[in-house]
Amino acid sequence: MDRMSVIEEFAGIQLPGHLHTPESLQYAQNFKFKEGDVLIVTYPKSGTTWMQEILTLIYSQGDTEIAMTIPNWERAPWLEHTYFKVTLKEGEGPRIITTHLPSSVLAPALQNSKAKVIYVARNPKDVAVSFYHFHKMAKFLPEISSFSEFLELFLKGKVCYGSWFDHVQGWYRQKNNLDFFCITYEDLQKDLRRSIKKLCGFLGCPMYSEEVDKVEQHCRFPVMSQNVMVNYMLIPKEIMNHDQSKFMRKGVVGDWKEHMTQEQSDAFDKIFQEKMSGCYLQFLWNLD
Ligand code: A3P
Repeated sequence: MDRMSVIEEFAGIQLPGHLHTPESLQYAQNFKFKEGDVLIVTYPKSGTTWMQEILTLIYSQGDTEIAMTIPNWERAPWLEHTYFKVTLKEGEGPRIITTHLPSSVLAPALQNSKAKVIYVARNPKDVAVSFYHFHKMAKFLPEISSFSEFLELFLKGKVCYGSWFDHVQGWYRQKNNLDFFCITYEDLQKDLRRSIKKLCGFLGCPMYSEEVDKVEQHCRFPVMSQNVMVNYMLIPKEIMNHDQSKFMRKGVVGDWKEHMTQEQSDAFDKIFQEKMSGCYLQFLWNLD
């Protein structure tokens, strides 16, 4: 299959033509959030799927049935995707919605709602590496010839979904205007149990210790990566080719060290310091 088209310039960023149309983006922009809605917000490759799984399990009190029978894109659909309107479940329980869109598009609607926002951020060096591998397997993203080519585009913000720096800072600036919870991929790795409990507190969803055990066990990488409802093995090879790279690839912190030269890492650090100056998030990651 040919690499698919890209939608140029929606809110200043490029998005893949796959699953995004001007209509679906318009729908997302005008979406009316309700009290009880929970919005997972991420820059791609930051732990989106992980958070979708954790929230599914928290709301099912650790019962794995939904997680093992319904694909993540149905139980926590992407607001900006073409299928969103017909997929979003109206009914009992909170609606879990996912998005990669920038804050400039969604913050106004969210400020007037009582929706909860969970922002997951990841060390951008690891995001860049994960995103590079994702470009190899996701046939709806532009073809990239080398990691160095990708890194240059990533640092300039000239990749699909736009600049990582703008995304994290844009959303973080909204923290006092929204019912906002920020967590990092590294927090989840460091202490998954504690992270689950903190999320339960934010969501107002208390759990028994044995239920937390179940969430924790199910959401560990070795278990989750085998779940076909989240590992994207259900997607045809023409769209995601797992022979090129797995969606659930490594699931570790610091894989950038296996990919970046000292020169690339230094150049990254310099841009990171410039762009993140004055933002609290700059202290969250050790980039050395
Ligand atoms: P890697 O490519 O570094 O392995 P997203 O869901 O935002 O697209 O992010 C995908 C990244 O999250 C991939 O990173 C994937 O392996 C990792 N991931 C998904 N589930 C995980 C889990 N349970 N534990 C650790 N990492 C996980």
